[in-house]
Amino acid sequence: MSSGNDNILIVDDNISIQDDFRKILNSSAQESDPKMNELEQQLFGETSSSESHFFNNKQINYRLSFSSQGNEAIEKIIEAEKKADSFSVVFMDVRMPPGIDGIEAASQIRKIAPHTQIVICSAYSDYSWEDMVKKLGNPEGIIFLKKPFDKIEVQQLALSLSEKWKTARKLEYHINNLEKIVKEKVDELAVAQMQSVESAKFAALGIMSAGLAHELNTPLCAILIASEQVIEKLADDAETPKTKLVSKLLKQIVSMAEKMATIIKAFRGYSRNEKNDSYEFINVKSIIDNALLFCEHKFVENKIELHVENRTQSGELNCHPAQICQVVLNLLNNSFDAIKNQTEKWIKIELDEIDNNIQIVVIDSGQGIPEHVAKNIMVPFYTTKEVGQGTGLGLSISKGIIDQHRGTFQLDTTHPNTRFVVKIPKTQPL
Ligand SMILES: Nc1ncnc2c1ncn2[C@@H]1O[C@H](COP(=O)(O)OP(=O)(O)OP(=O)(O)O)[C@@H](O)[C@H]1O
Ligand SMILES: [Mg+2]
Repeated sequence: MSSGNDNILIVDDNISIQDDFRKILNSSAQESDPKMNELEQQLFGETSSSESHFFNNKQINYRLSFSSQGNEAIEKIIEAEKKADSFSVVFMDVRMPPGIDGIEAASQIRKIAPHTQIVICSAYSDYSWEDMVKKLGNPEGIIFLKKPFDKIEVQQLALSLSEKWKTARKLEYHINNLEKIVKEKVDELAVAQMQSVESAKFAALGIMSAGLAHELNTPLCAILIASEQVIEKLADDAETPKTKLVSKLLKQIVSMAEKMATIIKAFRGYSRNEKNDSYEFINVKSIIDNALLFCEHKFVENKIELHVENRTQSGELNCHPAQICQVVLNLLNNSFDAIKNQTEKWIKIELDEIDNNIQIVVIDSGQGIPEHVAKNIMVPFYTTKEVGQGTGLGLSISKGIIDQHRGTFQLDTTHPNTRFVVKIPKTQPL
């Protein structure tokens, strides 16, 4: 696109005609000078010549280039297009021996720079109008100017064609921008829609787990109470190898039942968060513990080492716990998929407090994500997994959640392993 000046190319083998153009088009620039206009008004009164009215208050600053031959003009056009500094208008002579004629040059220029407008300057003896149209095909964007031409006519053409060119470029820019904005909005909507589907699924899971937790809690309490009573009763009797073994087994039952009670409590907490859709203060470590309850068994079964390093002080975070839990789960599930078949299998979760943010880092033993994949991972529905294995929404939804918490969600491409960094402000605006 032009840098704002009007870039005009004059193609004529006659040097004196090139000079005429220079004078005509440079004079229009001078006439736009307010001081010149004032002087002109003093000299000629209110009704000065029509040309000074026409250019009054219009700052014209043409950048003129000249060529004596059609081929040279074509090269200039190619060069200008390469630099994205197109010519808005070309004034093209027809006969320019020994090179190609202006009509041939114009037809080639139209292919290289379709937006450049061409004024064919021909004498009476040159091609007939019909011949020129036949040679150029569609005459749109081509203007014919009969030689010898009028100064005002040339100035008017230069002005109106370069203005037209600039308006068309602005319009083109806005249309392209509009397309980009519409695409971004459509993508945002798709993520928001899927996010609400996902949170509906999560909410359903929350309701289901609340019911399940309630149903399991009662018999579990009964198991715990009964086991503890039997342990007490056994303690009253004299210790034999048999009572010793039964007591040991019962203690195992109590310990397992207590573990189950902890899981059930976590499920209850999770469903409670989903129901009241508000932000709350919670320790980030407890969110991680919650997330691990859902997937730890997979890691154990697949012999994946898991390390959690909590370097926070208070670790307190104002957030939507179920949503942050969902983000951590998405990251852990992705890590699991990436490394489950590798020989070296580990996942590390690091928790830090940096300024007013809580940072959650998930690193896995994978070797990072290849650049061509990495640039797409946040795009909704992008997945490298087989059909039925992944929807390609985990990361885009996670990013959406963290954006809503005014945080950042990034893949660290500088680390030798696959490392995701999530930063969330410790407090949220009221
Ligand atoms: N830890 C990781 N290691 C390697 N590649 C990863 C990792 N995390 C994400 N990716 C890549 O990013 C892609 C997009 O991840 P995303 O979580 O958005 O979708 P998905 O896991 O394919 O499907 P789902 O919707 O079930 O999460 C994955 O298909 C994978 O190619
Ligand atoms: Mg995923």
